[in-house]
Amino acid sequence: MIPPYRPEPLSDFRNPAVTAAFEQALAAVKTQLGKRYPMIIAGRRVESGESIVSVNPSQPDQVVGYAARGGVAEAEAAVQAALAAFPAWADTPADVRARILFKAAAIMRRRRHELSAWMCHEVGKNWAEADADTAEAIDFLEYYGRQMLKLAAPQPLTPYPGEENHLYYRPLGVGVVHSPFNFPLAILTGMTAAAIVTGNTVVVKPSTEAPVIAAKLFEILEEAGLPAGVANLLYADPVEMGDYLTTHKEVRFINFTGSRQVGCHIYELAAKVQPGQVFLRRVIAEMGGKDAIIVDGTADLDEAAAGIVTSAFGFSGQKCSACSRAVVTADVYDQVLEKVVARTRALKVGPATEKDTDVGPVAAERFQKKILEYIEIGKAEGRLVLGGNALPGGYYVEPTIFADVAPTARIAQEEIFGPVLAFIKARDFDDALRIANNTPYGLTGSVYSRSRENLEQARRRFRVGNLYFNRKSTGAIVGVHPFGGFNMSGTDSKAGGPDYLLLFTQAQAVSEKL
Ligand code: ALA
Repeated sequence: MIPPYRPEPLSDFRNPAVTAAFEQALAAVKTQLGKRYPMIIAGRRVESGESIVSVNPSQPDQVVGYAARGGVAEAEAAVQAALAAFPAWADTPADVRARILFKAAAIMRRRRHELSAWMCHEVGKNWAEADADTAEAIDFLEYYGRQMLKLAAPQPLTPYPGEENHLYYRPLGVGVVHSPFNFPLAILTGMTAAAIVTGNTVVVKPSTEAPVIAAKLFEILEEAGLPAGVANLLYADPVEMGDYLTTHKEVRFINFTGSRQVGCHIYELAAKVQPGQVFLRRVIAEMGGKDAIIVDGTADLDEAAAGIVTSAFGFSGQKCSACSRAVVTADVYDQVLEKVVARTRALKVGPATEKDTDVGPVAAERFQKKILEYIEIGKAEGRLVLGGNALPGGYYVEPTIFADVAPTARIAQEEIFGPVLAFIKARDFDDALRIANNTPYGLTGSVYSRSRENLEQARRRFRVGNLYFNRKSTGAIVGVHPFGGFNMSGTDSKAGGPDYLLLFTQAQAVSEKL
């Protein structure tokens, strides 16, 4: 019997036994650094003469691993491998496909701290963030496995005399998964698991910032019994190979999570029907955010400040769900700003592998450079009240707060994807809602208020895919908070929700006259 889905509990690092186990995992991973990781195509390890070098952003002279960089030949081979594996996989019963996900979840649970330790090294997640990432990956496997069983069960159609009628959810075919660096295990696992459990086969192109953790997922899927060719691992340049795959006449869907710019590019390119292509390609795109937390005069201001700090600076603000705008009504603006600055000042910035680090580095040098450019822009647009600098040793950026920022300023409109928070003063709650809604994005938002009227107004008018009241704007839980955004945040796919798997299927109605 399969027990009901239940989100994986997070590790309690106040427990010395848990801390010791995590430290052991970090030490074990350290002895494994610097290895080479081939691509995996049709179950075979594929080398190339070129490398993607993955370094530890807390200490960039430490190489986490070398991934074999593929080109057109490997991309084509990966599509062909997925095509060849498709018929048998599509015919594999849904419960068998689901069972592979459940087995993969069990393996991940056993390797939990090790996987988290890889992410501390590879992308600079601190302990708690890395642990939550691994827990979420497990959740996706458990949740989508169960959702597939529901989808494969007889669907509730209206009975009709003299006929036997069924609705079947069929897979689409070959797809491509583009996963981001910021949830390098969770989102990679979720996007891949959903595509394959529904009977599709895929080419997986992980972020070039996180190739090693992707290799770990593939090890796990293989051990869980996933047949060769169902998921193929391609390490490649996102622009060059991305376009090749997006326009491939056999690629029926693209599952993308990443920037707005790349998402829009894929969306446009994917729409073109290529010679010999006999379907309309589907794009599932989860892109950026410019997420706001609104605080009004009735709110618990300490709770609000704590929520803002966690949402803005967790994983150095490198989440599409991160709070990058604090929109506070004038009556409590100064108090909230003061509380947020005090809490932020107390955050410990340092190497992600160290136990007490609150804020690690950003994941790559080019991200650090871009964030510092935005901080320069911010200096002309607002009052710098905290931070603003790079720190030595790794790709560190101090948690940075600008006050008195205009709602239309660039740092209040453009996604920075770093630890930079803009405080914006609103006249009243109506004004705060107007400001919060006034960006091209619509991913997450929070409201801190004790006013039922204001909360209900926000429920109706705050146009975001994930709206939270009196809590942080990050940390959606699979099955609990289906995740995805409006407007330029993407196609609102609602990952971790009951409708997500439908995006990877086409429904077939079969009617037999009796
Ligand atoms: N799903 C992630 C969160 O909610 C992005 O923070």
